[in-house]
Amino acid sequence: MATMLKIKVNEQVRTVSSAPDTPLLYVLTDELNLQGPRFGCGLGQCGSCSVLVNGVETRSCMTKVSAVVGKSVTTLEGLPAWYAAQKKITNAPALHPVQQAMIDEQAVQCGYCFNGMIIKASELLSKTPQPTESQIRSAMNGHLCRCGTYPRVLKAIQRASLVMKAVAK
Ligand code: FES
Ligand code: FES
Repeated sequence: MATMLKIKVNEQVRTVSSAPDTPLLYVLTDELNLQGPRFGCGLGQCGSCSVLVNGVETRSCMTKVSAVVGKSVTTLEGLPAWYAAQKKITNAPALHPVQQAMIDEQAVQCGYCFNGMIIKASELLSKTPQPTESQIRSAMNGHLCRCGTYPRVLKAIQRASLVMKAVAK
């Protein structure tokens, strides 16, 4: 009989039947049909598979599903609600300010890396609301973009920081 695990994803408790050592990425995409996290390198090096686990950016390709039992997983799909909860906003916006800023700055090209870019930038701004350029560069260092969008990603994170500053805590 398949082992059943209960994991909390985007504030919903989900029961999954994947083996406990299955990479979280496969469970999120194949079993729960979430489209945010992407398979890139499968080696923890590119960041395209990133999710938040208890608010910390985590490479889901390198994380066993059993490791998130009892924790809270947030994917790109749950990011606006995660942000609203942090800011105590009653109605979650359609997009997290980082997502909106990426659009406003026209940062996205092929988009493959952007799940991870947005997850990481959201984590950064939750901990360091007004990061310096150096802090942004350092935080985003582990997220690889084959299209070279880094300058616009930087501008988008700076834009999102200003927008979030204006939102009352
Ligand atoms: S696919 Fe997970 S870090 Fe590249
Ligand atoms: S936008 Fe194409 S890989 Fe980053």
